[in-house]
Amino acid sequence: MEPLGRHDLVPGVVIEAKGLAKAFNGRRVLDDVDLLMRRCEVISILGGSGAGKSTLLKLIAGLSKPDRGRLVLFGRDIVPLEEQELIPIRKRMGMVFQGAALFDSLTIGQNVAFPLKEHTRLGKAEIRERVAEVLAKVGLPGIEGSYPHELSGGMRKRVGIARALVLQPEVVLFDEPTAGLDPTNAKMICELIAALRRDICETSVVVTHDLPCAFMISDQVALLHRGRIVEMASPRELQRSSHEEVRAFLAGALR
Ligand SMILES: Nc1ncnc2c1ncn2[C@@H]1O[C@H](COP(=O)(O)OP(=O)(O)OP(=O)(O)O)[C@@H](O)[C@H]1O
Ligand SMILES: [Mg+2]
Repeated sequence: MEPLGRHDLVPGVVIEAKGLAKAFNGRRVLDDVDLLMRRCEVISILGGSGAGKSTLLKLIAGLSKPDRGRLVLFGRDIVPLEEQELIPIRKRMGMVFQGAALFDSLTIGQNVAFPLKEHTRLGKAEIRERVAEVLAKVGLPGIEGSYPHELSGGMRKRVGIARALVLQPEVVLFDEPTAGLDPTNAKMICELIAALRRDICETSVVVTHDLPCAFMISDQVALLHRGRIVEMASPRELQRSSHEEVRAFLAGALR
């Protein structure tokens, strides 16, 4: 079995978005989004509720199509691709959904094994081994036999992360990984994302309301406002920004 730490360290662009737009029922949620992301980088996307953060993440995950713009993933523009052609690209990305989105009737082991059964031909023993490995990685070894309702919210989030990691994705997309958690659990998830990045050169896009977490784990922090990325900068630079919308967001006015 390939170990989880297989990623090379060659810097390269993995995500390039240019002029992305997306409207729902005539209301433009994303207007003109540009984003550039390199391998092994962690980018956080901040923005008020309804700013279009989840919408942007779903576009990047290839789960929905932009109305306009270019979206190059791993060197290939995915916008013109058919459903079938998108599947191998989606497999290179793991998505941690807002809310853990586990299957309640399946055990934790079955939940985490799900993508492996869907997308690989691994045998039972290998699946078991891979599931045990990612559960250990998120700090929950040996809980394969439990059911989601037996776990705390923080543990469920970690299982959601394990499930996103099990196909050994090159990019992991996190949608509000710490939302709804108490401060201790939120900090734990945030530290986990930081640790994964150190261990396996994870390239991640993290959508969050959690400013301390974003500043702790990110190389770049972007603010999405009125359909555009109004600023993208290092945590230090962003905190010193003189940009009006950034100042207002950091002061709590735009959340
Ligand atoms: N599939 C959809 N159909 C219609 N409207 C949608 C759809 N998805 C999102 N929207 C609308 O687009 C806007 C942005 O939604 P989105 O979920 O991207 O916001 P968000 O920034 O993730 O917000 P939150 O912080 O509350 O999660 C909202 O007004 C939402 O109602
Ligand atoms: Mg959202």
